[in-house]
Amino acid sequence: MISLAAVTLLAAAAVANAATGVATFNNYDAQGGVACSGFSSTNSQGNGIYAAALGDLSPLWTGPACAGSVNGSNCNGSGGCIDCTGPSCSGEGQCGNCFQISCAGSLDGETSGACTGNTIVVKVIDACPATHPENYCKLSQFGGNVPSNQCCEAAGVNAFDIATTAQSVLSTYQYNLNINIEPVSC
Ligand SMILES: *[C@@H]1O[C@H](CO)[C@@H](O)[C@H](O)[C@H]1NC(C)=O
Ligand SMILES: *[C@@H]1O[C@H](CO)[C@@H](O)[C@H](O)[C@H]1NC(C)=O
Repeated sequence: MISLAAVTLLAAAAVANAATGVATFNNYDAQGGVACSGFSSTNSQGNGIYAAALGDLSPLWTGPACAGSVNGSNCNGSGGCIDCTGPSCSGEGQCGNCFQISCAGSLDGETSGACTGNTIVVKVIDACPATHPENYCKLSQFGGNVPSNQCCEAAGVNAFDIATTAQSVLSTYQYNLNINIEPVSC
């Protein structure tokens, strides 16, 4: 029999590992390359595991942030980039690590749709760099209209860009999600 104190400790440990964040969605099958060396750009990473990129401003990010800097001259003034070259992310420490993800609600205030209650496992195979022009050019200061927490530009927010094939498994919302996150073995 497990004592009440032990149960309390286990619950505290589970809470200590849990985190929250946001999910956007990306089609890795169409992307062609990823930041983590040795991993392929496919939505499915085998064993029911989905691909994901982690934003380099995320508290869960380990290792040095991606190289590069934010330079508005690379933006076209209406949300797109002119020079769309991304930075190197050679120090990404979470490559190959897995996280259990569940939906905690709509990030865009959608009133139709719901979380399914399903949990999925994602494997980090890519980075979502704040210094990538395809991300920062979407900010309003460069003429875009995407909130900072939906283009990997919000400091202190765990940002996962997850395989599009996982979207309908997590929720019936159409767009981005608030999520619960827990590290798990792959
Ligand atoms: C910003 O980008 C432009 C165009 O690529 C370049 O000419 C300029 O040197 C860059 N500025 C900085 C501070 O890196
Ligand atoms: C800027 O880039 C976006 C995304 O590629 C594109 O949809 C838009 O038409 C471009 N705007 C201009 C003014 O070139």
